[in-house]
Amino acid sequence: MTRASDKLIVALDLPTYDAARDLVNKLGDTVSFYKIGLELLFSDGLTLARELKHEGKRVFLDMKLLDIGNTVEHAVASAARLGIDFLTVHGHDTKTLEAAVRGRGTSNLKLLAVTVLTSLDQNDLDEQGLSLTPGALVIRRAQMAKNAGFDGVIASGQEAAAVRAETGPDFLIVTPGIRLPENETGDQSRPATPETALRGGANHLVVGRPINKAANPKAAAQAFLKHIAAA
Ligand code: C5P
Repeated sequence: MTRASDKLIVALDLPTYDAARDLVNKLGDTVSFYKIGLELLFSDGLTLARELKHEGKRVFLDMKLLDIGNTVEHAVASAARLGIDFLTVHGHDTKTLEAAVRGRGTSNLKLLAVTVLTSLDQNDLDEQGLSLTPGALVIRRAQMAKNAGFDGVIASGQEAAAVRAETGPDFLIVTPGIRLPENETGDQSRPATPETALRGGANHLVVGRPINKAANPKAAAQAFLKHIAAA
């Protein structure tokens, strides 16, 4: 059985290595899986990624890669050599997805496609000339990712059940935009509770601000773990 702490990924969306290190130290054994995004990457995030791996934690590099195939392939190969666990690639087109799979080679790196950012709503898609609803576009892109050989997708908790139904039991669903009823939603347009996401079939929940901006991050993480265990 998977432990609740395996399902919780804390986003280290902080401006400096020192701030992130301080948060990791405060969370201690409560949290075993961290996400490092672009903000921290440009402030020694890879040093922290290596340290976290050395300390037995799991690391998700949220790089949301999107470029020509050759560039994506070699970027993914470099990421795989770091020994990290999860890496994101934008799931807009099959050429990029297939290039990422080639770059991963025989490493254990899990590739996750970003389907539709959870901050986007119908108006944002209309503006881009995309006629599908966010929900339908998530499903379309999840199918493309699976066909290309990806391990899973990033999808909102509200869409987890539809993605699970479409992709079957072995495809990873990682859901950001997770909030407890008492949390503020921030800029997340499609937030979900841990219960909604997990009952819909999500494997991992990404939580950022409700933990990394909390006055007591450890207590905030424990509150999420309680909801995860109960779901
Ligand atoms: O602070 P909050 O809990 O909203 O953070 C969510 C995290 O998940 C952020 O690091 C954000 O970049 C990431 N994310 C997202 N939506 C996606 C993919 C990643 O919110 N589709």
